[in-house]
Amino acid sequence: MQILFSKPLFPNILGITIVLVLSGWLMVQAQGNWIFIAAIILVEFLVISIIFMQFYNKYTRPLNKASKTVNEMIKGNYSARFNNSNSEEMEQLSKNINKLARNMNEITIQEQMHAEQLTSIIDNMKNGLALIDEKGYVHLVNRGFTEMFQGKEKQYRGHLYYEVFENEAMHDVVQKTFLYEEPVKEQFKNKRGLTKNYMEVIAAPIFNEHNMIKGAVLVIYDITELKRLEKMRKDFVANVSHELRTPITSIRGFAETLKEKQHDEKAAEEFIDIIFKESHRLQLLIEDLLELSRLEREDFQLQKADFNVKQMIDAVLPSLEQKAEKKELHFTTSIPADIHMYADAEKLKQVIINLADNAINYTSSDGSVSLNVSEKNNRVLFSIEDTGIGIEKKAIPRVFERFYRMDKDRSRNTGGTGLGLAIVKHIVEVHQGEIVVESEVNKGTAIHVYIPKD
Ligand SMILES: Nc1ncnc2c1ncn2[C@@H]1O[C@H](COP(=O)(O)OP(=O)(O)OP(=O)(O)O)[C@@H](O)[C@H]1O
Ligand SMILES: [Mg+2]
Repeated sequence: MQILFSKPLFPNILGITIVLVLSGWLMVQAQGNWIFIAAIILVEFLVISIIFMQFYNKYTRPLNKASKTVNEMIKGNYSARFNNSNSEEMEQLSKNINKLARNMNEITIQEQMHAEQLTSIIDNMKNGLALIDEKGYVHLVNRGFTEMFQGKEKQYRGHLYYEVFENEAMHDVVQKTFLYEEPVKEQFKNKRGLTKNYMEVIAAPIFNEHNMIKGAVLVIYDITELKRLEKMRKDFVANVSHELRTPITSIRGFAETLKEKQHDEKAAEEFIDIIFKESHRLQLLIEDLLELSRLEREDFQLQKADFNVKQMIDAVLPSLEQKAEKKELHFTTSIPADIHMYADAEKLKQVIINLADNAINYTSSDGSVSLNVSEKNNRVLFSIEDTGIGIEKKAIPRVFERFYRMDKDRSRNTGGTGLGLAIVKHIVEVHQGEIVVESEVNKGTAIHVYIPKD
């Protein structure tokens, strides 16, 4: 202020003083000439008015304009500008005001961009998110949240959480967060249409700069898939333990009997036979488990090579034919001699053996089993058909699950562990192939395996 007024005021005060002194001196000289005195007063008035007008135009008017521009900026209009070059001071002031406006404009644009980015992140995150203030009012719910609970944003925003959140677990986590002022986690079931999903909600307190609780943020995850995997793992461990325990108990029991008591040779032979059969079963089970874990390893790689399909199947046919013969089944094959493919021959042999084994096992004497190979759309189709017991419609998708057996006792009698088709499915999947099951109870089953030729 000092700099602004010291310079303009000095010449103006000097000018006015000169006018007053000069007019005073002239009036003394005029000695009662009232017309002359009146003329001097008029001139004096005009000169002082001009000086004030000039001062007003140079400083007061631009200052009013500058003040208006700043007011516009206070209102949020950062495109307002102020230009004045009447004086050095005004020019500097206008430059600074315009620079400030430009900076504010940039900051606002950046802030807008950040806010938009944040909104888009919050809205596009798959998890549900809700923000509650210290009074319990919902301030924000994202799209993930509204989709999870099938509601609309306005249903939640501005309402008390315990009036709009349907689930008790959600009330609970908010209350505990406000009470203990620390993150709280809970799981609950959420019904969405006909399906039930497992959710996990984590509520965390929000503090202000004085460490006072200002609200809570809730993040909700859909953990249905995690729960499914957890259940699968638990079932798998339970199944493996069960499957291992059965033959081990049997082996141990017969071995103890053999050790402790006197037996005739025939009974002892029978016991040894059982022990041998059960230990064989145990070995098969362990081999299958190892095979499954090998196939499931992330670094598993197929040993692909070019081979003739007929030659590959010819290598496994004798044992299958022998098995079918033993069960008095008609076993037929139709395999063109000229089909070549680029795949893992050993793994495909396993597929054929497992499928043909099932067909033979689950078909009673006098039935028939056929193995046909053909080529279609750059894929090789292996079809194994039987006239056996068939699979119930609802059980078809389940036969590929580990340890699933339609009839556990029957399957166990045939030495089955319920891992054969799980292995088949894995091998087909790693080959990017496809497997189709057609079956009718008491009529028979056809399993078609499509494997890309290369
Ligand atoms: N061709 C078939 N006809 C009828 N049922 C079948 C046939 N193939 C499979 N199944 C059913 O599917 C279940 C699973 O088959 P999978 O081959 O996985 O196990 P498994 O034959 O019992 O034992 P293994 O692990 O020794 O093969 C069988 O227990 C059986 O109930
Ligand atoms: Mg099987």
